[in-house]
Amino acid sequence: MKVLVTAGPTREHLDPVRFLSNRSSGRMGYALAEAARDRGHDVVLVSGPVALPPPEGVEVVDVVSALDMLAAVSARLPWCDTLIMCAAVADWRPASCSAVKLKKRAMEAQLTLVPNPDILAELAPKKAGRLFIGFAAETHDLLAEAQGKLARKGLDLIVANDVTQPGAGFETATNIVTLVAPDAPPQPLPLMSKRAVADRILAWAEAKAASLPPRTPDPASRDL
Ligand code: CTP
Repeated sequence: MKVLVTAGPTREHLDPVRFLSNRSSGRMGYALAEAARDRGHDVVLVSGPVALPPPEGVEVVDVVSALDMLAAVSARLPWCDTLIMCAAVADWRPASCSAVKLKKRAMEAQLTLVPNPDILAELAPKKAGRLFIGFAAETHDLLAEAQGKLARKGLDLIVANDVTQPGAGFETATNIVTLVAPDAPPQPLPLMSKRAVADRILAWAEAKAASLPPRTPDPASRDL
């Protein structure tokens, strides 16, 4: 398979030294990229700013903001047959970004934000038989939230995790996830390493891809 993985947070800058972001470490996305590589797939990893070494044998595209990530993923979508959106994309960005450091005296007490595009929703019209896999990191109503996102974003699979559970979520080497697909009962997995979770997700994708009719590659994919 040709697997496009996103990982890490995005940063939404107010000025060259300040940004809005989130707690994503990139570990789950990097584990997915490494697992896909080791299972013999071609992998492109679009990564937000993280403190992890680039995986060998994987093309890494570094991005900063959600708009950068949208551009990088859109450009590579024609190449891939499986998109795994593991990145924690910031939903909002400052309405403007100053080219120079804002001085305290000149700053307002409130930030004006504008919504970022939803990358999965933007790409849904170009899905064309590809597998789209998303993540839902939640603190409450895990299955209802995940099932809502699965339907709204037109996904084949959503990987739901309750980030309040010890050993799950951000900045850990382990995760506790439930695989939620439209056509099957939710499949809860026990606490396991992020690498083992990645292998379970890829095994699901391989089985799903094998059950689908072969996809005609996009003409644009020849250019990549
Ligand atoms: N996602 C995306 N573009 C965004 C935000 C999220 O493609 N702007 C993707 C994430 O990579 C993930 C899935 O959508 O695979 C769910 O992300 P999440 O942040 O949980 O969903 P939201 O729709 O932002 O919902 P909310 O923040 O209200 O929980």
